Amino acid sequence: MQVLADSSDKLSGIRSILEERFTVAGERLDADARLAQVPYAIVIRAELRDVDNIAAIKKRSGALAKARKRIFLLEHTSHVGISQAYALGATSVLPGTINRIKLLAALNEAGVDTSASSNATAQPDNAVETAATAIASMFTAVTLGQPLDVDGTKEAGRQIADRITQHGLSEWLTTVRRHHEGTYQHCLLVTGVAIDFGLSLGVGRTDLERLYTAAMFHDIGKARIPLAILDKPGRLDPEERAMIETHPVTGYEFLKGQNLKGKDNISPEILDAVRHHHEYLDGSGYPDALCAENIGDIVRILTISDIFAALIEHRHYKPTMPRAEAYNILCGMNGKLEKALVNSFKQVALTR
Ligand SMILES: [Fe+2]
Ligand SMILES: [Fe+2]
Repeated sequence: MQVLADSSDKLSGIRSILEERFTVAGERLDADARLAQVPYAIVIRAELRDVDNIAAIKKRSGALAKARKRIFLLEHTSHVGISQAYALGATSVLPGTINRIKLLAALNEAGVDTSASSNATAQPDNAVETAATAIASMFTAVTLGQPLDVDGTKEAGRQIADRITQHGLSEWLTTVRRHHEGTYQHCLLVTGVAIDFGLSLGVGRTDLERLYTAAMFHDIGKARIPLAILDKPGRLDPEERAMIETHPVTGYEFLKGQNLKGKDNISPEILDAVRHHHEYLDGSGYPDALCAENIGDIVRILTISDIFAALIEHRHYKPTMPRAEAYNILCGMNGKLEKALVNSFKQVALTR
């Protein structure tokens, strides 16, 4: 295990937590990069608003890429900081004051083997990293009001589609849950589920592309919602709920604005799916309380994928719900989702 920090105080603080469980080597970011062996995990505590720190982390990117877990502990909780960490290769990001239990949990989470045999180097997961980086830069673009890399996002979606065609949905779900947490994990899971659902339904190439692009973009409006609300464990109060419910329109407006500025490459079907992925056939959804006849096929597929992915996502504060249980919840949403589609979704949810 390797700890990198931008001050001796931070370095020793984190070491003292980790040394209870692990063999730890530490290095200050401003020292010469050593990182002789590839550790199975790297924990980084540094101010990412400092360009020297960014440069020092980039200098170690080779070793970083090979470590199985790359945990960034951020002092300032902001979308930009989190995006920055993911862009630097984080596999998970823990914002705010250091929480010993969360940190140890993040290191022990699914897929991380703390035994001696874990020295074998894991291959970096290209499709996962490409996609996570695309989502990170998308969130940064919204937060900072910068242009969006639409083609890059589509390309990342295409890579996920290739990966799922080759290795199946389960492999994707496991890999993503092992690497990421929070909104990014959610977007990656929804995209994977939507692709597999689309493939199982036999949708054509154009619709599949619309589907994964819409899935990548669907929650982009959450970039404008404070993380304290997005990542709040437990119930939201009515005000917080109202805030969350602004995200489909925010995302839609942002994407529409991109079209006006640029190449008009986000199709109306994609815009529609982003705006309406929380609508239900019985009119009980938001933001426009649409009814069945106004909800298109891509949206229906995306909505089912979104709910399912949200149910099975992995959060450190709760156990992961089994896929069968999540599917049963979808089956119980009478009148809200298209029954025939939910039936077709069964094999995606349970077996693929
Ligand atoms: Fe959403
Ligand atoms: Fe979502």
